[in-house]
Amino acid sequence: MVRAARHAGGDGADGPEDGFINPPVTRGSTVLFPSLQALRERGSLRYGHELTYGACGTPTQFHLEAVIAEIEGGTHSQIVSSGLAAVTTPLLAFLAAGGHCLMPDCVYGPTRRFCGTMLRRMGVETSFYEPMLSEPDLRALLRPNTQVVFVESPGSHSFEVQDVPMIARVAHAHGAKLLVDNTWGIHVFQPFAHGADVSIQALTKYAGGHADLVVGAVTVADDRTWHAVRDAALQLGQYASPDDCWLTLRGLRTLGVRLERQSRSALLVAEWFAGRDEVARVLHPALPGSPGHEFWLRDFTGASSLFGVVFRPGFDAAAVDAMVDALGVFGIGESWGGYESLALPSNPTITRTLESSRFEGPACRFHIGLEDPEELIADLEGGLAVLRAASE
Ligand SMILES: Cc1ncc(COP(=O)(O)O)c(C=O)c1O
Repeated sequence: MVRAARHAGGDGADGPEDGFINPPVTRGSTVLFPSLQALRERGSLRYGHELTYGACGTPTQFHLEAVIAEIEGGTHSQIVSSGLAAVTTPLLAFLAAGGHCLMPDCVYGPTRRFCGTMLRRMGVETSFYEPMLSEPDLRALLRPNTQVVFVESPGSHSFEVQDVPMIARVAHAHGAKLLVDNTWGIHVFQPFAHGADVSIQALTKYAGGHADLVVGAVTVADDRTWHAVRDAALQLGQYASPDDCWLTLRGLRTLGVRLERQSRSALLVAEWFAGRDEVARVLHPALPGSPGHEFWLRDFTGASSLFGVVFRPGFDAAAVDAMVDALGVFGIGESWGGYESLALPSNPTITRTLESSRFEGPACRFHIGLEDPEELIADLEGGLAVLRAASE
């Protein structure tokens, strides 16, 4: 995995790059052929890295696809325009009118919205499940027409680590596909070793790593799944700019060291929060007591640097807003996975339908970047003073 991130995508002395260590950016729409026969032969190979027309992919995109497939442990990867497109493309590939989809209640808001709008209009029904559900509860939720079971582990605001091997077993026994949004788990969770059919990555986050691009990847476990995903991506016109693919390849070179540093700092900050009186719970998969911590211990090799804090019910959402506004080192922003630390109140962002997944107090999500953790903690000390003052 680490080798893939550092070295794949550039063949150096043996490759077509005349010894330059990194692959070039190749832009283009038109691809020329020496004859019509050559064009037709290449055009008939839909599932390989065929270069027939820019919208079907470029050499830079194919380099990135090879690296992502290796990092995720899948057989093929399809680069798409955004992390959200990496969610919607396989949903469209595996759901049909009259079908049913199971989504965890903790799922990323725009994924939920896609289910409630586009999929509903297409005649696909979605039901939401408690992410920490038991095997019998999952069996009970499956319907004869369930085509897809979706997992986002950990949930992007509530951080439940799901029992993916159990969910995979039950979904497969039913004949449904298991789609996993593995954005948090990049480099520390191998989705296919735990039963996923499709792994979704918002490469926008840790893979890009520098908050300067938007791109996604859909990686698959086998050839049949690949054909369905590739067909859907081509039909939808999914495409990513060669410049963004190249920037992602460059970001991947340092993914391992960035994650190591950010993960260590995030754990320090999360443990500091856990010792504070203002805090009811810290939602960090590596901390005992966080939902699904036992599955994190069993299935993950590390953690990323995004976690949540639930404040005591005595504090209200307006006080958390005042705290976030008072932070100086942390930025206020919706993304994560970049070099910079960010804070975002969770309450207005999450939409839940199940009572079981509500928080007891107002919550905030923190992304820890490459800054000095001492400096971050000092900033948060000031923020908590504002939280207390706003609640008096
Ligand atoms: C878990 C998760 N999946 C997918 C996405 C979508 O990624 P993008 O912003 O690249 O569309 C996000 C974005 O925040 C996310 O948090």
